[in-house]
Amino acid sequence: MNHQDPLKPISKLMPLFILLAITTTLLFGLVIYTAFHGEPGFGNNKAIKNNPHKGLEIVDGVDLESGLLATGDYELVKRNCTPCHSGKLIAQNRASKEGWRSMINWMQETQGLWDLGQNEEAILEYLESCYGPEKMGRRKNLENIDWYELNPGN
Ligand code: HEC
Repeated sequence: MNHQDPLKPISKLMPLFILLAITTTLLFGLVIYTAFHGEPGFGNNKAIKNNPHKGLEIVDGVDLESGLLATGDYELVKRNCTPCHSGKLIAQNRASKEGWRSMINWMQETQGLWDLGQNEEAILEYLESCYGPEKMGRRKNLENIDWYELNPGN
């Protein structure tokens, strides 16, 4: 009669199982590492560490994140005007205060822009002084600007 331990064939394979488990773990780790390597905030990210603009939001008077001129109440404008589209859309337009007011009204009536309340006047002031009609000449054209990639999600 053969009284062989029923677990014996399995225990013989045990080293193989362990090897398989280790390999799988390593492979899984490698996949995760490759997938997230380079993502902001991931471990030892050289791209972020070497970014010369780290912590520098404003370059040549332009807020890098929004593309808006960083002057006056631009933060108010950035907060209210860039959730739906890039600030570039704003920066490439020129209009008088009334022109800006009617664009804002249009967005409020058709695009779901909220009531700007007391901020509306400050926003209009900013828009007219930074992006007024060319002939108003409130500021000199910016020259020699290095443009940066804006976040397309804005
Ligand atoms: C609730 C969303 C929303 C907000 C917030 C918003 N807009 Fe818009 N805006 C739109 C949409 C949608 C368009 C049309 C985009 C297109 O045509 O691609 C638009 C278009 C524009 C345009 C282009 C108009 C044209 O004639 O080409 C300008 C300039 C503009 N917005 C300025 C502003 C300003 C200034 C603010 C802040 C007061 C603002 N937007 C806030 C939704 C918004």
